[in-house]
Amino acid sequence: MRLTVLAGVGAALLVAHSRRELKLRERLAAASLETLLNAIDANDPTTGAHARRVATYALILARAQGLNVRAQHSVERIALFHDVGKIHAALFDIVHDSASLSTEERQLIATHPRRGAEVLEPLSMFYPDLAEGVLSHHERWDGTGYPRKLKGTEIPLQARIVSIADTFDVITHSRPYKDGESFEQALAAIQEGSGTQFDPMLADLFVAAAVSTEVREAADEASIEHAGSDERRRNTQENAPDITFRWRNTETELPVQDQVPLGAPG
Ligand SMILES: [Fe+2]
Repeated sequence: MRLTVLAGVGAALLVAHSRRELKLRERLAAASLETLLNAIDANDPTTGAHARRVATYALILARAQGLNVRAQHSVERIALFHDVGKIHAALFDIVHDSASLSTEERQLIATHPRRGAEVLEPLSMFYPDLAEGVLSHHERWDGTGYPRKLKGTEIPLQARIVSIADTFDVITHSRPYKDGESFEQALAAIQEGSGTQFDPMLADLFVAAAVSTEVREAADEASIEHAGSDERRRNTQENAPDITFRWRNTETELPVQDQVPLGAPG
């Protein structure tokens, strides 16, 4: 009888230990990504703010598409780091130049998905779809995108979602060389690209009333200036809703089926 009780206590301790280890791993992985995001902010707050807005819109579309929690996290990560290749020294001046780009400069900019995938490659063991998604975010549904001219469902689903969110933000947000266009103009552009630039099913979903209303609210929220303690942080958060990683949310436990085994992608 005593042995049975001891075995029960031992098993319970083991389970508690495993859960603690799992949580620690998840937090370490999320903290690593957040560190990289901080590095992007420090180097290029404009790209950091763009990435956060794109992640917000991409998550709305991912949820509407019915993706499970794990897939939503994958979309969020790819959205947050889709343009990490743009902070490469070879591209920085071109990206931030207010003049229109020459052909040669455009060709250089087109290297950013591959540069980004290279930056993220060391994380492949933990997030196997991250580098692939980033590499694919400028592919087009009709096969005329870059860098690999993938077509249709050859393009990872996450990248197809991020592509729409990215385009929406590029159209609606002001750049040094152009003013942002209206919400309606952006939706019209997404609709127009349905079946050519974008996955038609996702494009239709994005412009549908339920999703576009949520996107509009998020975009409005993004335009509210966030207060911050120092100038860099203020600039970074300005026009960017705050994306918080999972590890910060201590109230929300992942459903058991979405929990990730140690060392596996989450
Ligand atoms: Fe990009």
